[in-house]
Amino acid sequence: MDQQAVLHIEGISKKLGGKTILDGCSLSVRRGELKVLIGPSGAGKSTLLQSINCLIPPDSGEIYLEGERLDRADRTALCAFRAQVGMIFQDFNLFDHLSARENVAIALRKVRGMPAAAALERAHEELARVGLSRHAPLYPAQLSGGQKQRVAIARALAMDPKVILLDEPTSALDPELVGEVLSVIRDLASGGMTMIMATHQMDFARALASEIIFMERGRLIEQGAPAYLLAEGANTRTRDFCLRLAEMGG
Ligand SMILES: Nc1ncnc2c1ncn2[C@@H]1O[C@H](COP(=O)(O)OP(=O)(O)O)[C@@H](O)[C@H]1O
Ligand SMILES: [Mg+2]
Repeated sequence: MDQQAVLHIEGISKKLGGKTILDGCSLSVRRGELKVLIGPSGAGKSTLLQSINCLIPPDSGEIYLEGERLDRADRTALCAFRAQVGMIFQDFNLFDHLSARENVAIALRKVRGMPAAAALERAHEELARVGLSRHAPLYPAQLSGGQKQRVAIARALAMDPKVILLDEPTSALDPELVGEVLSVIRDLASGGMTMIMATHQMDFARALASEIIFMERGRLIEQGAPAYLLAEGANTRTRDFCLRLAEMGG
């Protein structure tokens, strides 16, 4: 195992409805790295990210956070683990009946036991970090998709995560709103946040990914630096896939 890994998974497998969805997935991410997960729809990217967070408990395999093996049967350990692993979903997963600042503050109160006033103060700081100071009192219905996703990112940041998992964070957005969310993620990357992100934003991946991981049929097929996997003339599955994506995108 990579001793410098913040997060390491080893041999994660999962069957759903009798079908193998994840087949022995192993990966490591070091501090400050951004690993980008790509692959066709149905490859298992969402299942993998949710298995890492144990929202979908893997059938087998091990998960290590800072070298420490997670005992998934230990509820307390699992809660502590989840509090340190942020998760960003395609469809934001905000509470519609709570304002932006309450969406960010609620986990601080419930998970951290922070007093309400301190939680709201921290929520304001995190909303400012994603450029949403003035939106703090607004409800999800009053926000654009890009703003909602930035609230979700602020909520994850408020927990001081050791790593953030992002599942196609811009794919539910209108094209003109993609940039503002990618820009926040770019700032996190330059600030040294450790992240694993499923995305089809290949220009972003090429510019910012420490490594790209290509996934197909539940397996991690290729891993490497974008400059290597996407090099002109490189005979890689990753490059094939990106060329096809580009053709579909016009
Ligand atoms: N609850 C489930 N029961 C059965 N099959 C599922 C379930 N959830 C996902 N799948 C299947 O798992 C495969 C991988 O899905 P997913 O992880 O969403 O892929 P991706 O995010 O790469 O598009 C798909 O074939 C999907 O149909
Ligand atoms: Mg998915």
